[in-house]
Amino acid sequence: MSKSVVVLISGAGSNLQAIIDHAKQDSSIQLVGVISNKASAAGLIRAERAGIDTCVIDHTAFDTRDDFDAELTNQIDAWQADLVVLAGFMRILTRGFVKHYTGRLINIHPSLLPKFKGTNTHARAIEAKETEHGCTVHFVTEELDGGAPIINAAIKVHKEDTPDSLQAKVHKLEHKIYPLAVSWFTSGRLIESKGQAFLDNMPINPNGHRYTG
Ligand code: GRF
Repeated sequence: MSKSVVVLISGAGSNLQAIIDHAKQDSSIQLVGVISNKASAAGLIRAERAGIDTCVIDHTAFDTRDDFDAELTNQIDAWQADLVVLAGFMRILTRGFVKHYTGRLINIHPSLLPKFKGTNTHARAIEAKETEHGCTVHFVTEELDGGAPIINAAIKVHKEDTPDSLQAKVHKLEHKIYPLAVSWFTSGRLIESKGQAFLDNMPINPNGHRYTG
């Protein structure tokens, strides 16, 4: 089994790169397109190098979020995506967009959800004196960072850690768990139903499967 995957980016695209690299040995992942809302996103070069179609949809060219999301939808659907992967896509998506892709739209968030939804997750983890921090891949719903978690990975937080050091460590974990989650989906092992994620027909626990390497 294989599925078509479209990745949405805004920046460096290191998660996109991890998925591209993984897909080289995983024929279930068919990367059919990469969309960026910024023409300057370095991730576009990564996609082009890998021979993947790219498209820039500049959000500043649209009057409303609805108009922008309608154009995104046109392009994603033209590529007949089975799965839409948000990889550092820095736009808030409309309710209509999220509904259209329910069960086939995933995101990676730099915290152990449900902790620290939203921004500045690394600084907030330090402030809260967390001993553990990490990242989570989750299905996307209308609630910001609130959809069913799929997989998470954690590191210990040390006294000397700064937001930057945590970001660097968490980023490395992202590159491990995002390709894995994509692969679970494209190989038909991962599905979402009624707000619950299932792996191999078993419900995934509410915080996501814990990655252990
Ligand atoms: C990652 O930190 C991810 O958690 C967040 O956006 C960042 C994207 O990084 N959603 P990159 O563009 O994949 O390098």
